[in-house]
Amino acid sequence: MPLFRRKEQPSAEVDFTKLPRHIAIIMDGNGRWAKKRGLPRTAGHAAGAETFRSIATYCKEIGLDYLTVYAFSTENWKRPAEEVSAIMGLLKKYLLEAIGQMERDKVKMEFFGDLSPLTPELRELCQRTREISKHYEGCQVNICLNYGGRDELMRGAMAYAKDCAEGKADPNHLTQEQFGQYLFSKGVPDPDLVIRPSGELRLSNFLLWQSAYAEFYFTDVLWPDFSKEELHKAIAAYQHRSRRFGGV
Ligand code: IPE
Ligand code: IPE
Ligand code: MG
Repeated sequence: MPLFRRKEQPSAEVDFTKLPRHIAIIMDGNGRWAKKRGLPRTAGHAAGAETFRSIATYCKEIGLDYLTVYAFSTENWKRPAEEVSAIMGLLKKYLLEAIGQMERDKVKMEFFGDLSPLTPELRELCQRTREISKHYEGCQVNICLNYGGRDELMRGAMAYAKDCAEGKADPNHLTQEQFGQYLFSKGVPDPDLVIRPSGELRLSNFLLWQSAYAEFYFTDVLWPDFSKEELHKAIAAYQHRSRRFGGV
């Protein structure tokens, strides 16, 4: 047995009959993509939004059940105000388009995160998107917006404590399934595969609870350059993994 780990070299051969049920993506690298081209960071975000549109459409085409994307973290407010407002502007544009095409696309849309710091207009758009699409079956896309894994867990803990104080929950008995009901992801199975483009090897506060047994796939490709082929590589790599969940 060699003592070193063989570098994973996934062939992009995907078995479409054995897709992961849920893929989560940290859409990272927009700023560097723009910088490489001498463009402002906001141009990178616009390109990243296009990539999101095409990857989400493709995921629906291949029959993926759940796609969760990290669009804006609880930490991203630290960025310059102009960048934050450009991202929010792109989000508004995306939601307006999505609402216009909902009858055709029939993708169920959810939002993970505390939407209260968003503008009333954006909040209303998120609410409308959620409302219109809530009965669609098939692909569900979850957009993580002002989302942080720690924030989600703390909110869950506070809501649970409140239920205990009001006699609606038993403080001496809590299962993982019950606690999962207090999270933004309630009702959604855990991600099987978490993809992070852009070369960073960290979670950046993404789905801390839910990714306990996820398979991870990292690539140097920057999000705006992420393509169907890159997705195939990630899924093919996933399909070569052996998931044991602590067993043998
Ligand atoms: C991801 O791209 C988009 C958001 C975090 C909103 P970045 O803007 O983080 O791009 P890099 O990491 O600076 O290249
Ligand atoms: C994670 O990317 C958040 C999103 C992609 C929305 P960041 O670019 O914010 O993460 P760090 O700062 O490199 O950890
Ligand atoms: Mg980044």
